[in-house]
Amino acid sequence: MLCKNLTVKDGRLRFAGMEPGELMRAFGSPLYVMDENRIREKCRIYRDAMIAAFGETSFPIYASKACCFKEMYRIIGSEGLGADVVSIGEIATAKAAGFDLSKAFYHSNSKSDEEIRLAAEAGVGYIVADGEEEIRAIDRILGEMGKRQKVLLRITPGIDPHTYAEVATGLVDSKFGEAIETGQAARFVALALSLPHVEVAGYHCHVGSQVHDADVFIRSAEKMLAFIDSMRKAHGYLPEFLDLGGGYGVRYEESDPDLDLAASIAEIGAFLKKRCGEMDMPVPAVILEPGRSIAADAGMTLYTVNCVKRIPGYKNYVAVDGGMGDNPRYALYEAPYTVVLPRRMDEKGTVRYDVVGKFCESGDVIQPGVLLPEEIRRGEILAVLTTGAYNYSMASHYNRVPKLPVVMIKDGEARVVVRRETPEDLFAFDV
Ligand code: LLP
Repeated sequence: MLCKNLTVKDGRLRFAGMEPGELMRAFGSPLYVMDENRIREKCRIYRDAMIAAFGETSFPIYASKACCFKEMYRIIGSEGLGADVVSIGEIATAKAAGFDLSKAFYHSNSKSDEEIRLAAEAGVGYIVADGEEEIRAIDRILGEMGKRQKVLLRITPGIDPHTYAEVATGLVDSKFGEAIETGQAARFVALALSLPHVEVAGYHCHVGSQVHDADVFIRSAEKMLAFIDSMRKAHGYLPEFLDLGGGYGVRYEESDPDLDLAASIAEIGAFLKKRCGEMDMPVPAVILEPGRSIAADAGMTLYTVNCVKRIPGYKNYVAVDGGMGDNPRYALYEAPYTVVLPRRMDEKGTVRYDVVGKFCESGDVIQPGVLLPEEIRRGEILAVLTTGAYNYSMASHYNRVPKLPVVMIKDGEARVVVRRETPEDLFAFDV
Protein backbone atom coordinates (compact mmCIF):
# COMPACT_ATOMS: atom_id res chain seq x y z
CA MET A 1 0.00 0.00 0.00
CA LEU A 2 1.01 3.61 -0.53
CA CYS A 3 1.37 4.45 3.12
CA LYS A 4 1.50 2.41 6.31
CA ASN A 5 -1.75 3.96 7.59
CA LEU A 6 -3.56 1.95 4.89
CA THR A 7 -4.19 -1.72 5.63
CA VAL A 8 -6.48 -4.37 4.22
CA LYS A 9 -8.41 -6.92 6.27
CA ASP A 10 -10.88 -9.41 4.78
CA GLY A 11 -10.84 -7.51 1.50
CA ARG A 12 -11.69 -4.25 3.23
CA LEU A 13 -9.57 -1.14 3.44
CA ARG A 14 -8.78 0.43 6.76
CA PHE A 15 -7.42 3.94 7.06
CA ALA A 16 -5.73 4.80 10.35
CA GLY A 17 -7.37 1.65 11.67
CA MET A 18 -10.90 2.70 10.69
CA GLU A 19 -13.29 1.45 8.04
CA PRO A 20 -14.36 3.96 5.40
CA GLY A 21 -17.94 2.59 5.47
CA GLU A 22 -18.27 3.32 9.19
CA LEU A 23 -16.83 6.80 8.76
CA MET A 24 -19.31 7.53 6.01
CA ARG A 25 -22.23 6.25 8.04
CA ALA A 26 -21.20 8.54 10.88
CA PHE A 27 -20.24 11.65 8.92
CA GLY A 28 -21.92 11.44 5.50
CA SER A 29 -20.60 11.54 1.94
CA PRO A 30 -18.43 12.87 0.42
CA LEU A 31 -15.85 13.27 3.12
CA TYR A 32 -12.22 14.17 3.72
CA VAL A 33 -10.64 12.03 6.43
CA MET A 34 -7.28 12.70 8.03
CA ASP A 35 -4.94 10.75 10.27
CA GLU A 36 -3.59 12.85 13.13
CA ASN A 37 -0.96 10.32 14.15
CA ARG A 38 0.51 10.37 10.64
CA ILE A 39 0.68 14.18 10.65
CA ARG A 40 2.44 14.08 14.02
CA GLU A 41 4.81 11.34 12.87
CA LYS A 42 5.85 13.44 9.86
CA CYS A 43 6.37 16.52 12.04
CA ARG A 44 8.67 14.50 14.32
CA ILE A 45 10.62 13.01 11.42
CA TYR A 46 11.34 16.51 10.14
CA ARG A 47 12.12 17.95 13.55
CA ASP A 48 14.48 15.18 14.61
CA ALA A 49 16.15 14.79 11.23
CA MET A 50 16.78 18.52 10.99
CA ILE A 51 18.31 18.77 14.44
CA ALA A 52 20.55 15.79 13.61
CA ALA A 53 21.52 17.16 10.20
CA PHE A 54 21.79 20.89 10.84
CA GLY A 55 21.93 21.37 14.61
CA GLU A 56 19.64 22.50 17.43
CA THR A 57 18.83 25.91 15.96
CA SER A 58 17.31 24.44 12.79
CA PHE A 59 13.60 23.64 12.48
CA PRO A 60 10.76 22.86 10.08
CA ILE A 61 7.88 25.24 9.46
CA TYR A 62 4.68 23.75 8.09
CA ALA A 63 3.54 25.27 4.77
CA SER A 64 -0.08 25.92 5.69
CA LYS A 65 -1.19 26.29 2.08
CA ALA A 66 -1.11 22.49 1.81
CA CYS A 67 -4.00 22.13 4.26
CA CYS A 68 -5.18 24.89 6.53
CA PHE A 69 -7.75 24.89 9.30
CA LYS A 70 -7.50 25.62 13.01
CA GLU A 71 -6.85 22.05 14.13
CA MET A 72 -3.86 21.76 11.76
CA TYR A 73 -2.22 24.72 13.53
CA ARG A 74 -2.95 23.16 16.93
CA ILE A 75 -1.38 19.87 15.84
CA ILE A 76 1.74 21.30 14.21
CA GLY A 77 2.11 23.87 16.99
CA SER A 78 2.04 21.18 19.64
CA GLU A 79 4.76 19.34 17.70
CA GLY A 80 6.93 22.46 17.92
CA LEU A 81 6.79 23.41 14.25
CA GLY A 82 6.61 26.96 12.99
CA ALA A 83 4.26 27.89 10.13
CA ASP A 84 4.66 29.29 6.65
CA VAL A 85 1.61 31.51 6.09
CA VAL A 86 0.77 33.20 2.80
CA SER A 87 -2.28 35.32 3.45
CA ILE A 88 -4.14 37.27 6.09
CA GLY A 89 -6.64 34.39 6.08
CA GLU A 90 -3.97 31.87 7.07
CA ILE A 91 -2.59 34.28 9.68
CA ALA A 92 -6.06 34.82 11.14
CA THR A 93 -6.74 31.07 11.22
CA ALA A 94 -3.44 30.41 13.00
CA LYS A 95 -4.17 33.16 15.50
CA ALA A 96 -7.69 31.88 16.16
CA ALA A 97 -6.18 28.45 16.84
CA GLY A 98 -3.88 29.94 19.48
CA PHE A 99 -0.77 29.36 17.35
CA ASP A 100 2.31 31.29 18.45
CA LEU A 101 2.65 33.78 15.58
CA SER A 102 6.21 34.62 16.52
CA LYS A 103 6.95 31.30 14.78
CA ALA A 104 5.10 32.33 11.62
CA PHE A 105 6.82 33.29 8.36
CA TYR A 106 4.66 35.41 6.07
CA HIS A 107 5.25 34.68 2.36
CA SER A 108 3.63 35.96 -0.83
CA ASN A 109 5.03 37.74 -3.85
CA SER A 110 2.33 40.41 -3.72
CA LYS A 111 1.49 41.89 -0.32
CA SER A 112 -0.49 45.11 0.00
CA ASP A 113 0.34 47.82 2.56
CA GLU A 114 -2.76 46.76 4.46
CA GLU A 115 -1.64 43.12 4.55
CA ILE A 116 1.86 44.04 5.70
CA ARG A 117 0.40 46.21 8.48
CA LEU A 118 -2.07 43.51 9.58
CA ALA A 119 0.66 40.87 9.63
CA ALA A 120 2.97 43.07 11.69
CA GLU A 121 0.13 43.99 14.08
CA ALA A 122 -0.76 40.33 14.52
CA GLY A 123 2.82 39.71 15.63
CA VAL A 124 4.04 37.58 12.73
CA GLY A 125 7.64 36.72 13.58
CA TYR A 126 9.13 37.02 10.12
CA ILE A 127 8.02 38.55 6.86
CA VAL A 128 9.62 36.95 3.82
CA ALA A 129 10.26 39.96 1.62
CA ASP A 130 9.88 39.19 -2.06
CA GLY A 131 11.88 42.05 -3.54
CA GLU A 132 13.18 45.62 -3.44
CA GLU A 133 9.84 47.36 -3.81
CA GLU A 134 8.27 45.28 -1.08
CA ILE A 135 11.09 45.69 1.43
CA ARG A 136 10.84 49.46 1.03
CA ALA A 137 7.12 49.19 1.83
CA ILE A 138 7.78 46.96 4.85
CA ASP A 139 10.36 49.43 6.14
CA ARG A 140 8.02 52.40 5.63
CA ILE A 141 5.01 50.71 7.27
CA LEU A 142 6.98 49.41 10.25
CA GLY A 143 8.49 52.88 10.61
CA GLU A 144 4.98 54.34 10.79
CA MET A 145 4.14 51.77 13.43
CA GLY A 146 7.31 52.63 15.35
CA LYS A 147 8.49 49.02 15.13
CA ARG A 148 11.21 46.91 13.59
CA GLN A 149 10.37 43.69 11.70
CA LYS A 150 12.48 40.60 11.25
CA VAL A 151 12.60 39.61 7.58
CA LEU A 152 14.00 36.92 5.33
CA LEU A 153 14.93 37.92 1.79
CA ARG A 154 13.54 35.71 -0.96
CA ILE A 155 16.28 34.86 -3.42
CA THR A 156 15.83 33.03 -6.73
CA PRO A 157 18.71 30.62 -7.15
CA GLY A 158 17.98 29.67 -10.78
CA ILE A 159 17.42 25.96 -10.28
CA ASP A 160 15.13 23.71 -12.30
CA PRO A 161 13.45 21.15 -10.02
CA HIS A 162 12.30 19.01 -12.99
CA THR A 163 8.78 18.63 -11.65
CA TYR A 164 5.68 20.25 -13.17
CA ALA A 165 5.85 23.83 -14.43
CA GLU A 166 3.09 25.22 -12.21
CA VAL A 167 5.07 24.49 -9.04
CA ALA A 168 8.59 25.43 -10.20
CA THR A 169 9.48 28.68 -8.44
CA GLY A 170 13.27 28.83 -8.33
CA LEU A 171 13.97 29.63 -11.98
CA VAL A 172 15.45 33.01 -12.94
CA ASP A 173 12.26 34.11 -14.72
CA SER A 174 10.05 33.21 -11.72
CA LYS A 175 7.55 35.74 -10.36
CA PHE A 176 8.99 35.00 -6.90
CA GLY A 177 12.03 36.60 -5.32
CA GLU A 178 15.06 38.42 -6.74
CA ALA A 179 17.43 36.47 -8.97
CA ILE A 180 21.10 35.92 -8.21
CA GLU A 181 22.02 35.65 -11.90
CA THR A 182 20.75 39.11 -12.87
CA GLY A 183 22.45 40.90 -9.96
CA GLN A 184 19.05 41.86 -8.53
CA ALA A 185 19.48 39.66 -5.46
CA ALA A 186 22.73 41.42 -4.54
CA ARG A 187 21.05 44.84 -4.88
CA PHE A 188 18.14 43.60 -2.78
CA VAL A 189 20.48 42.58 0.05
CA ALA A 190 22.37 45.88 -0.04
CA LEU A 191 19.10 47.78 0.18
CA ALA A 192 17.62 45.61 2.94
CA LEU A 193 20.74 45.95 5.08
CA SER A 194 20.51 49.74 4.83
CA LEU A 195 16.91 50.06 6.03
CA PRO A 196 16.28 51.05 9.67
CA HIS A 197 12.99 49.26 10.34
CA VAL A 198 13.86 45.78 9.12
CA GLU A 199 16.23 43.29 10.62
CA VAL A 200 17.54 40.87 8.02
CA ALA A 201 17.46 37.45 9.68
CA GLY A 202 18.49 35.52 6.60
CA TYR A 203 17.70 34.27 3.13
CA HIS A 204 14.87 32.21 1.72
CA CYS A 205 14.57 30.21 -1.45
CA HIS A 206 12.09 27.63 -2.69
CA VAL A 207 12.64 25.66 -5.83
CA GLY A 208 9.68 23.38 -6.46
CA SER A 209 7.27 20.79 -5.21
CA GLN A 210 6.85 16.99 -5.35
CA VAL A 211 10.64 16.54 -5.34
CA HIS A 212 11.91 13.06 -4.51
CA ASP A 213 15.56 13.45 -3.60
CA ALA A 214 18.07 15.69 -1.89
CA ASP A 215 19.70 16.75 -5.16
CA VAL A 216 17.43 19.75 -5.81
CA PHE A 217 17.98 21.06 -2.28
CA ILE A 218 21.73 20.50 -2.55
CA ARG A 219 21.94 22.33 -5.87
CA SER A 220 20.02 25.29 -4.49
CA ALA A 221 22.02 25.22 -1.22
CA GLU A 222 25.21 25.33 -3.29
CA LYS A 223 24.04 28.46 -5.09
CA MET A 224 22.81 30.03 -1.85
CA LEU A 225 26.10 29.36 -0.03
CA ALA A 226 28.06 31.01 -2.82
CA PHE A 227 25.67 33.96 -2.59
CA ILE A 228 26.04 34.12 1.19
CA ASP A 229 29.79 34.19 0.74
CA SER A 230 29.68 37.01 -1.78
CA MET A 231 27.38 39.05 0.48
CA ARG A 232 29.73 38.39 3.38
CA LYS A 233 32.56 39.79 1.30
CA ALA A 234 30.51 42.79 0.15
CA HIS A 235 28.81 43.72 3.43
CA GLY A 236 30.31 41.60 6.20
CA TYR A 237 26.82 40.15 6.62
CA LEU A 238 26.23 36.52 7.62
CA PRO A 239 22.63 35.25 7.84
CA GLU A 240 21.24 33.59 10.95
CA PHE A 241 18.86 31.48 8.82
CA LEU A 242 19.03 29.81 5.46
CA ASP A 243 15.51 28.74 4.53
CA LEU A 244 15.63 26.17 1.74
CA GLY A 245 11.85 26.07 1.24
CA GLY A 246 9.57 23.08 0.94
CA GLY A 247 9.03 20.55 -1.77
CA TYR A 248 9.61 16.97 -0.64
CA GLY A 249 7.22 14.67 -2.47
CA VAL A 250 4.88 11.88 -1.50
CA ARG A 251 3.63 8.68 -3.08
CA TYR A 252 0.49 9.17 -5.12
CA GLU A 253 0.97 5.88 -6.95
CA GLU A 254 2.71 2.61 -6.12
CA SER A 255 5.36 3.43 -8.73
CA ASP A 256 6.41 6.62 -6.88
CA PRO A 257 9.63 6.28 -4.87
CA ASP A 258 9.37 5.67 -1.14
CA LEU A 259 11.49 8.53 0.06
CA ASP A 260 13.54 8.23 3.26
CA LEU A 261 13.09 11.79 4.50
CA ALA A 262 15.55 11.55 7.37
CA ALA A 263 18.28 10.13 5.11
CA SER A 264 17.66 12.76 2.49
CA ILE A 265 17.81 15.59 5.04
CA ALA A 266 21.02 14.06 6.40
CA GLU A 267 22.50 14.28 2.88
CA ILE A 268 21.71 18.00 2.71
CA GLY A 269 23.24 18.44 6.17
CA ALA A 270 26.45 16.65 5.19
CA PHE A 271 26.73 18.79 2.08
CA LEU A 272 26.22 22.04 4.00
CA LYS A 273 28.83 21.12 6.60
CA LYS A 274 31.37 20.18 3.97
CA ARG A 275 30.82 23.22 1.79
CA CYS A 276 30.74 25.68 4.70
CA GLY A 277 33.97 24.13 5.97
CA GLU A 278 35.60 24.64 2.57
CA MET A 279 34.39 28.24 2.51
CA ASP A 280 35.44 28.82 6.12
CA MET A 281 31.94 29.91 6.97
CA PRO A 282 29.69 29.05 9.93
CA VAL A 283 26.79 26.74 8.97
CA PRO A 284 23.60 28.82 9.13
CA ALA A 285 20.54 27.51 10.97
CA VAL A 286 18.40 25.79 8.34
CA ILE A 287 14.64 26.10 7.91
CA LEU A 288 12.62 23.73 5.71
CA GLU A 289 9.00 24.41 4.78
CA PRO A 290 7.27 21.07 4.17
CA GLY A 291 3.61 21.21 3.20
CA ARG A 292 2.67 18.27 1.01
CA SER A 293 4.93 15.80 2.80
CA ILE A 294 3.31 16.62 6.17
CA ALA A 295 -0.32 16.45 5.07
CA ALA A 296 -0.79 14.47 1.85
CA ASP A 297 -0.62 10.85 2.94
CA ALA A 298 -2.40 11.73 6.17
CA GLY A 299 -5.53 12.27 4.08
CA MET A 300 -8.03 10.42 1.93
CA THR A 301 -11.32 11.38 0.27
CA LEU A 302 -14.39 9.15 0.41
CA TYR A 303 -17.12 9.39 -2.19
CA THR A 304 -20.29 7.53 -3.10
CA VAL A 305 -20.75 6.28 -6.66
CA ASN A 306 -23.81 7.90 -8.24
CA CYS A 307 -23.66 6.39 -11.68
CA VAL A 308 -21.75 4.12 -14.00
CA LYS A 309 -21.92 4.89 -17.71
CA ARG A 310 -20.60 2.63 -20.47
CA ILE A 311 -20.23 3.94 -24.01
CA PRO A 312 -19.48 0.81 -26.08
CA GLY A 313 -16.33 1.15 -28.14
CA TYR A 314 -15.44 4.41 -26.38
CA LYS A 315 -15.25 4.85 -22.66
CA ASN A 316 -16.58 3.90 -19.26
CA TYR A 317 -17.31 6.38 -16.54
CA VAL A 318 -17.79 6.11 -12.80
CA ALA A 319 -19.34 9.34 -11.51
CA VAL A 320 -19.13 10.17 -7.81
CA ASP A 321 -20.82 12.70 -5.54
CA GLY A 322 -17.83 15.09 -5.45
CA GLY A 323 -15.18 16.01 -8.01
CA MET A 324 -13.18 19.04 -9.13
CA GLY A 325 -14.80 21.21 -6.44
CA ASP A 326 -13.08 19.19 -3.72
CA ASN A 327 -10.09 18.00 -5.75
CA PRO A 328 -9.11 20.19 -8.71
CA ARG A 329 -5.63 18.69 -9.06
CA TYR A 330 -6.20 16.44 -12.07
CA ALA A 331 -8.01 19.25 -13.87
CA LEU A 332 -5.16 21.66 -13.11
CA TYR A 333 -2.04 19.50 -13.30
CA GLU A 334 -3.14 16.10 -14.57
CA ALA A 335 -2.03 14.94 -11.14
CA PRO A 336 -1.98 11.18 -10.60
CA TYR A 337 -4.01 9.53 -7.83
CA THR A 338 -4.69 6.02 -6.63
CA VAL A 339 -8.40 5.20 -6.62
CA VAL A 340 -9.82 2.13 -4.85
CA LEU A 341 -13.11 0.56 -3.84
CA PRO A 342 -12.58 0.18 -0.07
CA ARG A 343 -14.94 -2.78 0.32
CA ARG A 344 -13.57 -4.75 -2.62
CA MET A 345 -9.82 -4.54 -2.14
CA ASP A 346 -9.24 -8.20 -3.06
CA GLU A 347 -11.04 -7.97 -6.41
CA LYS A 348 -8.98 -7.49 -9.51
CA GLY A 349 -9.48 -4.41 -11.66
CA THR A 350 -10.39 -5.60 -15.16
CA VAL A 351 -12.04 -2.58 -16.79
CA ARG A 352 -10.77 0.96 -17.24
CA TYR A 353 -13.00 3.77 -16.05
CA ASP A 354 -12.62 7.51 -16.00
CA VAL A 355 -13.50 8.44 -12.45
CA VAL A 356 -15.34 11.74 -12.79
CA GLY A 357 -17.27 14.11 -10.58
CA LYS A 358 -20.63 15.82 -10.52
CA PHE A 359 -19.54 19.23 -11.75
CA CYS A 360 -20.85 20.73 -14.98
CA GLU A 361 -17.90 20.37 -17.29
CA SER A 362 -16.10 17.54 -19.00
CA GLY A 363 -12.82 18.56 -17.38
CA ASP A 364 -14.23 17.42 -14.06
CA VAL A 365 -12.07 14.33 -13.90
CA ILE A 366 -10.61 12.95 -10.69
CA GLN A 367 -8.55 10.32 -12.46
CA PRO A 368 -8.79 8.86 -15.96
CA GLY A 369 -8.31 5.23 -16.95
CA VAL A 370 -8.56 3.66 -13.50
CA LEU A 371 -8.63 -0.15 -13.44
CA LEU A 372 -11.65 -1.29 -11.41
CA PRO A 373 -13.81 -4.43 -11.24
CA GLU A 374 -16.33 -4.86 -14.04
CA GLU A 375 -19.49 -4.59 -11.95
CA ILE A 376 -19.73 -1.32 -10.08
CA ARG A 377 -23.02 -0.26 -8.53
CA ARG A 378 -24.65 3.00 -7.56
CA GLY A 379 -24.15 3.54 -3.83
CA GLU A 380 -20.71 1.94 -3.62
CA ILE A 381 -17.96 3.69 -1.70
CA LEU A 382 -14.96 4.91 -3.67
CA ALA A 383 -11.79 6.25 -2.07
CA VAL A 384 -9.13 8.52 -3.52
CA LEU A 385 -5.89 8.17 -1.58
CA THR A 386 -3.25 10.75 -0.59
CA THR A 387 -5.56 13.76 -0.74
CA GLY A 388 -4.47 15.43 2.52
CA ALA A 389 -2.53 18.19 0.76
CA TYR A 390 -3.81 20.73 -1.75
CA ASN A 391 -7.34 19.31 -1.84
CA TYR A 392 -9.30 20.91 1.01
CA SER A 393 -7.09 24.00 0.66
CA MET A 394 -7.80 24.27 -3.08
CA ALA A 395 -11.50 23.41 -2.92
CA SER A 396 -13.99 25.79 -4.55
CA HIS A 397 -17.67 26.53 -4.52
CA TYR A 398 -18.03 25.97 -8.26
CA ASN A 399 -21.61 25.06 -9.12
CA ARG A 400 -22.58 26.22 -5.63
CA VAL A 401 -21.62 22.91 -4.15
CA PRO A 402 -20.94 23.10 -0.39
CA LYS A 403 -17.43 22.14 0.73
CA LEU A 404 -16.82 18.78 2.40
CA PRO A 405 -16.17 18.38 6.09
CA VAL A 406 -12.83 17.20 7.43
CA VAL A 407 -12.87 14.35 9.92
CA MET A 408 -9.70 13.80 11.96
CA ILE A 409 -8.90 10.32 13.27
CA LYS A 410 -6.73 9.74 16.29
CA ASP A 411 -6.22 6.40 18.05
CA GLY A 412 -9.47 4.91 16.73
CA GLU A 413 -11.59 7.98 17.48
CA ALA A 414 -12.94 10.22 14.74
CA ARG A 415 -13.97 13.84 15.21
CA VAL A 416 -15.14 16.63 12.92
CA VAL A 417 -12.50 19.37 12.66
CA VAL A 418 -14.17 21.25 9.80
CA ARG A 419 -17.93 20.92 9.61
CA ARG A 420 -19.82 20.20 6.40
CA GLU A 421 -21.05 23.32 4.66
CA THR A 422 -24.75 23.71 4.01
CA PRO A 423 -26.40 25.37 1.00
CA GLU A 424 -27.31 28.24 3.36
CA ASP A 425 -23.60 28.81 4.07
CA LEU A 426 -23.18 29.43 0.36
CA PHE A 427 -25.49 32.41 0.18
CA ALA A 428 -24.74 33.75 3.66
CA PHE A 429 -22.85 36.67 2.10
CA ASP A 430 -25.38 37.41 -0.65
CA VAL A 431 -27.53 40.50 -0.19
N1 LLP B 1 7.42 27.09 0.69
C1 LLP B 1 7.09 27.85 -0.36
C2 LLP B 1 7.67 29.18 -0.49
C3 LLP B 1 6.19 27.36 -1.31
O1 LLP B 1 5.88 28.11 -2.36
C4 LLP B 1 5.63 26.08 -1.15
C5 LLP B 1 4.67 25.56 -2.11
C6 LLP B 1 5.99 25.33 -0.02
C7 LLP B 1 6.91 25.86 0.88
C8 LLP B 1 5.45 23.96 0.25
O2 LLP B 1 5.81 23.06 -0.74
P1 LLP B 1 5.47 21.50 -0.54
O3 LLP B 1 6.33 20.98 0.59
O4 LLP B 1 4.01 21.40 -0.23
O5 LLP B 1 5.79 20.90 -1.86
N2 LLP B 1 -1.00 23.50 -5.60
C9 LLP B 1 0.13 22.70 -6.01
C10 LLP B 1 1.30 22.89 -5.10
C11 LLP B 1 1.75 24.33 -5.05
C12 LLP B 1 2.93 24.50 -4.17
C13 LLP B 1 3.21 25.94 -4.00
N3 LLP B 1 4.25 26.24 -3.10
C14 LLP B 1 -0.29 21.24 -6.03
O6 LLP B 1 -1.45 20.94 -5.75
O7 LLP B 1 0.52 20.36 -6.39
